[in-house]
Amino acid sequence: MSLIPGLFSSDMAIDLGTANTLVYIRGKGIVLNEPSVVAYHNKDGKKQVLAVGEDAKLMLGRTPGSIEAIRPMRDGVIADFEAAEEMIKHFIRKVHKRTTFSKPKIIVCVPHGATPVEKRAIRNSVLQAGARRAGLLSEPIAAAIGAGMPITEPTGSMVVDIGGGTTEVAVLSLGDIVYARSVRVGGDRMDEAIIAYLRRHQNLLIGESTAERIKTSIGTARMPDDGRGAVMTIRGRDLLNGVPKETEISQAQVAEALAEPVQQICDAVMQALEATPPDLAADIVDRGVMLTGGGALLGDLDLSLREQTGLSISVANESLNCVALGTGKSLEYEKQLRHVIDYDS
Ligand SMILES: Nc1ncnc2c1ncn2[C@@H]1O[C@H](COP(=O)(O)OP(=O)(O)OP(=O)(O)O)[C@@H](O)[C@H]1O
Ligand SMILES: [Mg+2]
Repeated sequence: MSLIPGLFSSDMAIDLGTANTLVYIRGKGIVLNEPSVVAYHNKDGKKQVLAVGEDAKLMLGRTPGSIEAIRPMRDGVIADFEAAEEMIKHFIRKVHKRTTFSKPKIIVCVPHGATPVEKRAIRNSVLQAGARRAGLLSEPIAAAIGAGMPITEPTGSMVVDIGGGTTEVAVLSLGDIVYARSVRVGGDRMDEAIIAYLRRHQNLLIGESTAERIKTSIGTARMPDDGRGAVMTIRGRDLLNGVPKETEISQAQVAEALAEPVQQICDAVMQALEATPPDLAADIVDRGVMLTGGGALLGDLDLSLREQTGLSISVANESLNCVALGTGKSLEYEKQLRHVIDYDS
């Protein structure tokens, strides 16, 4: 413990994700990692926050009329400002021990494609939540730093961050972005694809949580070699007679369901390669491509990308934490990264 508490800054970094929000405190690392969900209780026409994060996620899809569970972030940006602000405030309060009188400086990462309006909304939410200063850092830069890539060197690095809402493909060199593109395809789209597949092929209606469980347990980007792969028992509602039903889904079926979002991710990588200046493209051939984000954990996605691009593909260690770790490190290396942290737009 510090003898002079005021000396220890509690500057923070926040990865405000579509699926998960992570908070990093300088000198401590990641101190919070919770789903980006807020649950409200509607009482006499007034909304009251009932739960945030983990507790609220359990309520998604299971709420009675008086309770509403909201995901404030959609497609990587704030879709519900009020809920986003509540969520940020709640998480900051949870980790910010008021041992100092100073308000923290907070760096938040934002998708590369975020508009000025979206950026202002995120900045204002953080300032409202009690930050002294709010800096914004582009998500692909954070992801690459978090994955340990040598982004400040004069060499091309390609990072593909596959989150819940978006996939961001970027080529970085000398500490900044040479090319970046954000496509609104990620884990959520994969879940939706599984729901649509089961509705169409098995007349079965399942919820988002079940779809996510199928994806994380047996999800795969490639047809299994034996044409069927592992099998999972699932429950949902039979659309023909309306009653609950138990059935099975095979890995081959999941691969078929996920073919379209997987192809969209591959296409985004191919487009990035085509748009990359030749010398940097040569570096990428040498060094390969780094995948980060939760979507990078989809079974055989790396293999599928390797087959389509011919490049070597790696999945970052702690891929779910890369963006938060990278944003956190930017607090420590602020001098070197001054040009990419935006404090006032
Ligand atoms: N093993 C897995 N296989 C496939 N998908 C996974 C796996 N583990 C987690 N995911 C998915 O990863 C997504 C969450 O990833 P991540 O936390 O990187 O997103 P996010 O940062 O919240 O979203 P975004 O960056 O788009 O705002 C979810 O859709 C989740 O279902
Ligand atoms: Mg993310």
